[in-house]
Amino acid sequence: MARSSPVFICSDCGGETLKWQGQCPHCSAWNSLEQRASARAGSASPTRAEPRALDSEPAAAEARLGSGQEELDRVLGGGIVPGSVTLLGGDPGIGKSTLLLQVAAHVAGSQRVLYASGEESVAQVGGRGRRLNVAAANLEVVTETDLEAIQALATERQAALLVVDSIQTMQLAGIAASAGAVTQLRECTASLVRFAKGSGTAVMLIGHVTKEGTIAGPRVLEHLVDTVLYFESEAASRFRIVRATKNRFGAVHEMAFFAMTEGGLREIRNPSAIFLARAPEPAAGSVVTVTREGGRPLLIELQALVDRMRFGAPRRIAQGLDPNRVAMLLAVLNRHGGVSLQEHDVFVNVVGGIQIGETAWDLPVVLALASSLRDKALDQGLVAFGELGLTGEVRPVAYGEERLREAQKQGFKVALVPKENVPRKELEGLRVVGVGRVDQALRAAFGGGEEE
Ligand code: TYD
Ligand code: MG
Repeated sequence: MARSSPVFICSDCGGETLKWQGQCPHCSAWNSLEQRASARAGSASPTRAEPRALDSEPAAAEARLGSGQEELDRVLGGGIVPGSVTLLGGDPGIGKSTLLLQVAAHVAGSQRVLYASGEESVAQVGGRGRRLNVAAANLEVVTETDLEAIQALATERQAALLVVDSIQTMQLAGIAASAGAVTQLRECTASLVRFAKGSGTAVMLIGHVTKEGTIAGPRVLEHLVDTVLYFESEAASRFRIVRATKNRFGAVHEMAFFAMTEGGLREIRNPSAIFLARAPEPAAGSVVTVTREGGRPLLIELQALVDRMRFGAPRRIAQGLDPNRVAMLLAVLNRHGGVSLQEHDVFVNVVGGIQIGETAWDLPVVLALASSLRDKALDQGLVAFGELGLTGEVRPVAYGEERLREAQKQGFKVALVPKENVPRKELEGLRVVGVGRVDQALRAAFGGGEEE
C-alpha cells in the first residue's frame, strides 16, 4: 500500500493542497490550512468499516439461515446468523459431526455449503451422510487441515456456511505451533472470525472437550466467537441436550433436546412428554416435578424407594441429584415432618437420566419418600416443586409461574407449591395449593393429619 502523503485541507472552502502555505490557493483565506491524512488513501483503505443506520439491523436478522432443526434454531436465537461464528463443544462420540452434517445438508438445500473435516476422509463423511440419508448437490466435503486453503476454497465456492470439524485439527501455515496447541487454536479461531465477518459466511466450529468439561484450548476461544453451544448427555442415555452458554444473538442457557437414532439426531419438540412417559397406574413413590434446567421448564418424574434396612448402616443412593442434599432432606423430614427413615434404605432416582442441580425438587423428593414409605400413591394429576429449609419451611423458587404454566399445558390438575409461588391470577384447569411448611405439604398431599 502506498504511503499516505500528508494533505492540507482548507477549513473554509475544503480545498486540498499538498504543501502547507499561509494562504489557501483556492479561496485565498489566510491561516486556514490544516493537516489531514490523505483523503484518497483513506477511502482506499480496505479495513474502513461502513456505518449503517441502526434500524437496518432487523433486515439482517431476517436473513438468518434455518438449521433444519427447530429446537436448534431456538437455542441459536432464531437460526444461524450470516457472518457469525458458532463453537459447538462436546465429548467424543456424542454426535457433534452428526448434528453439523445434518445442519450442513439442510442449508445446502438452498445455499452452498463447505464441510471441512480434519478428522475424517471424504469417504467417511460420505458414509455418514448416506446413513443419515442426506444428499445435497450444494454440499461439498473436503479433507483438509490447512485453514488458509479451507478459507480460500470457501471464498471460491461462495459458501453461505462453512463447517470446520474440528478446530483442534486446524493449522495456519505461518504459525510455528502444532495443531491443537494454544497459539494455533487462538490464531485459527481469530482467522475464522475475520473470515466470517469479512465474507458474510456463517462458520460453525466443532471443538473437543477436556475432562473438566470445557472446550479444549484457552478460554479466549469462547470470547472470540459469537455463540458457544455445548452438547451434553448422560452416560448410556440416547437423549442429548444442546445448551447455549454464550450467545450474541439470543438468550443463554436455552436448551434443545435430541434423541440419537439410527437415522441421526432427531429433535424432541415436547421433552416433557418424553420424560413423563409414565405407567398408566398410579404408583407409590412417584412424584412429578417441574425443573427449570436451562431456559425452559421441564416436567420430570422423581422416584423414591424406601425399604426396611436388613443389616449394617442404612443406604442412601441418589441418581441424578445430589446425595448430600437428599441426606439433608431426610433429616428435615424426620424433624419437621414426623417421618423417620433412620431404619430404612433410601433410593431416589430422576427418570430419564437427567441431572438436576436446582433445589426446586426438595419438596417433591420428600413427598416421594413419604409416598413410598406409606405405600400410598399420590394423585396422578399432581405436580409439586419447592425448596426446603432446615427449619422445615417451604421456600419459593424462581420462575414459579412459568413452571405452573408448563404443568397446566401438560394437563396436570393440582400443583403443590410454596405459598409465595401461588400466582395472583388463577390458571384454568390447574388448582394451585400453596404451602408454607413441610408438615403442611404432607397433609395437603396425603390428606388428613395421619403421621407415621
Ligand atoms: P459423531 O457425530 O461421530 O460424534 P462426534 O463428532 O461428537 O465425535 O457420532 C458418533 C456416534 O453416533 C457413534 O457412536 C455412532 C452414533 N450414530 C448413530 O447412532 N446414528 C447415526 O445415524 C449416526 C450418524 C451416528
Ligand atoms: Mg466427530
